[in-house]
Amino acid sequence: MSDISVIGLGVMGSALANTLLQNGYSVTVWNRSIEKAEPLAANGATVAASAAEAITASPATIICIASHEQTIELLRECASAIGGKTIIELSTGGATEAEALAAMLAESNASWLLGIINAYPTAVGNPETVLSIVGDVEVWNKWEKAIKVLGGSSTHVGTEAGMLAALFAALFTTRQGFMFGMIYGGLVCKKAGIPLDTFVSQVPVSLGVLPSYYQYFADTVPQRQFDNPPATMTTYAAALDDALSTFKAAGAPCELPQLFSDLAHRGVDAGLGDKALTALVDSLGSE
Ligand SMILES: NC(=O)c1ccc[n+]([C@@H]2O[C@H](COP(=O)([O-])OP(=O)(O)OC[C@H]3O[C@@H](n4cnc5c(N)ncnc54)[C@H](OP(=O)(O)O)[C@@H]3O)[C@@H](O)[C@H]2O)c1
Repeated sequence: MSDISVIGLGVMGSALANTLLQNGYSVTVWNRSIEKAEPLAANGATVAASAAEAITASPATIICIASHEQTIELLRECASAIGGKTIIELSTGGATEAEALAAMLAESNASWLLGIINAYPTAVGNPETVLSIVGDVEVWNKWEKAIKVLGGSSTHVGTEAGMLAALFAALFTTRQGFMFGMIYGGLVCKKAGIPLDTFVSQVPVSLGVLPSYYQYFADTVPQRQFDNPPATMTTYAAALDDALSTFKAAGAPCELPQLFSDLAHRGVDAGLGDKALTALVDSLGSE
């Protein structure tokens, strides 16, 4: 028996398996294209001849392949091996497929955890890396130590399989807001004749403000406390209008600042002008 098995040895699965090996775990691995297991074998992993053999070899198996649909297909072919085992699904996927996978595993008398890896493979094993995990608390308690070897700041965020996809979309959109903000920032600088290395050197000014944005959101949204904010929706709408007119005057593409301005004005038009900008979480979609 091994401590843990890893199925899927792409860039991410290989990083997971190698990190477990480096931390003293005995690891059995399997990959559809078996040659990808060779570097792992050289590092001390046992190579299984099939996915079912890998699952049989350990009390828990991490699966990191394309997405939940492929995991469901793969596990159908291993039905006799999964009873009594723990499957830790780290492939990404949608809510419906996540629920189907969890239901299939429960029917097969297997326990499960589903996770999102919020990192590139190069950051697997770092103390600040986060795997966001859902599943039964008892199963999490049992495998928390091994999962924290993969991401030292990993957390259990809930028990429902389907919530992970929405949480991923929320966190990804949060990051992409910043990424696309920089892209549009670069566009207006280019049109205004500001050297892009000057813009890049000034981006940390915005990075420095992000913790206070986060605090504004955290102080207002969970408790729905939108009164007496440090900056109101009206103030934001005016500042966003100024930014939009600067984009227009420079002749820069302005879809993103236009969207920001439109959203703030929808809030003001809904009577939320003196509330926090974050009151949009309550009002958008329920107008
Ligand atoms: N790379 C990242 O930065 C990152 C970050 C977070 C999460 N992830 C997630 O991690 C998962 C793997 O990503 P990756 O970057 O390692 O991708 P990858 O390098 O392209 O590897 C994909 C792996 O999935 C296997 N696979 C695909 N379809 C399969 C099937 N039907 N049956 C069995 N195995 C199958 C492949 O096997 P073959 O070798 O035989 O093709 C390969 O081992 C994805 O869900 C991805 O979203 C990746």
